[in-house]
Amino acid sequence: MRGTAVDPARPDSPLLTDRFGRVATDLRVSLTDRCNLRCTYCMPAEGLDWLPKPEVLTDEELARLIGIAVTRLGVTDIRFTGGEPLLRPGLVDVVAATAALAPRPRISMTTNGVSLARHAPALAAAGLDRVNVSLDTLDPIRFRTLTRRDRLGDVFDGMAAARAAGLTPVKVNSVLMRGVNEDEAVPLLRFCLERGYQLRFIEQMPLDPQHGWDRGDMVTAAEILAALRSAFELTPEPGERGGAPAERWLVDGGPAVVGVIASVTRPFCAACDRTRLTADGQVRNCLFSRTETDLRALLRGGASDEEIAERWRGNAWAKAAGHGINEAGFHQPDRPMSAIGG
Ligand code: 5AD
Ligand code: SF4
Repeated sequence: MRGTAVDPARPDSPLLTDRFGRVATDLRVSLTDRCNLRCTYCMPAEGLDWLPKPEVLTDEELARLIGIAVTRLGVTDIRFTGGEPLLRPGLVDVVAATAALAPRPRISMTTNGVSLARHAPALAAAGLDRVNVSLDTLDPIRFRTLTRRDRLGDVFDGMAAARAAGLTPVKVNSVLMRGVNEDEAVPLLRFCLERGYQLRFIEQMPLDPQHGWDRGDMVTAAEILAALRSAFELTPEPGERGGAPAERWLVDGGPAVVGVIASVTRPFCAACDRTRLTADGQVRNCLFSRTETDLRALLRGGASDEEIAERWRGNAWAKAAGHGINEAGFHQPDRPMSAIGG
C-alpha cells in the first residue's frame, strides 16, 4: 500500500522506474567507506572522517536490504564496492546471503585488489561471480605515488588469484590523468591482453573530496582511443550496448575487447540502470545525487519489507535525467566517491 506522498504519476509497478522510462536493475552496494590505499584523486593522505561503526549497516541489515531489492524491486545485478569492500569482515557471509536469493542475482565486486589473493577462493565459493580490479599504473614507483602505498605486487597477485579462482572475466578499471599516467594506455592494454583481463578506461569524474577535478586535466575518451590506435586496430564491437557504461572496441579484430567509459564527454545517463546503497544505509539514484533516502532509519524503526521497498521506489522515481557535469551550475555531491561506491 502506498502512503499519501506518492506522486500520482508514478505507475503502479513493483520495479525501480523513473520519470524518463528507465528501470534500475543494477544495485551498487558500498560495504565500507574505508580503504587501505590513498589514491590521490580519491582521498587525502590522512584518510577521511570514516563513518562511525553504529551508523554502518550490519551484515544482517545489509542482507535484508539486498533481499528486498532482488525479491521486490526487480534488481538482477549486485555489485559490491567501497571504499575497499575486502576490508569488510563479513563480506563472505554477505555474498553467500546474496547468492542464496531467488531469483539469484549476478554478483560482482569492484576492488583495489590489494588483499584479493587472500580472499578470492572463499569469495568464489560463496557465490561471487566476477571482479573488477582498479589499476591505474604498471610502474611500482608511480603506483606508490598515486596510491601512497607500495602494494603494486599485491594487486598483480590479486588479479591472478581472481582469474585462477574463476572470478572471470577479470575486468580492470583504469583512470588516466594528465602528467601522471597518461602515457600508459598502450602498456596497460598490452598487460591485460597478455593475461586475459578485460580493460576499461574511465574518464575521471568530479568526485574527489579535495574538489580538485579540472576539466582541462581530464584525459578524454577521444585521447585514450587515439593513443590506443597508435598500437592497435580498434573496431566497434557489434551488438547492443544496453545499460552498459563502457563503449567497447574489438582489439586487432577480436575476440579481445577494450572498453572506454566516457562518463563526462559522452554521458550514458539516458540508459542508466543503477541504484546505489551506501554503507550507512542511504539509497542514491545517481553517483551525483544531491539527495539520499534513509533506509537505515526505516529498518531500525521497524518498517516492513514492503514499506522499505516503497520508499526505495520513491527514490528511483525522483532520479534526474542526467548528472549535469557539463551544465553551468553543476555541484559536486557532498559525499566523495569512496563513501558512495564506484
Ligand atoms: N572518476 C572516475 N573514476 C574514479 N574512481 C575513483 N574516483 C574516480 C573518479 N573521480 C574509480 C577508481 C575505481 C572505481 C571504484 O572508481 O579508480 O576503479
Ligand atoms: Fe581506495 Fe579506490 Fe579510493 Fe583508491 S580509488 S583510495 S583504491 S577507494
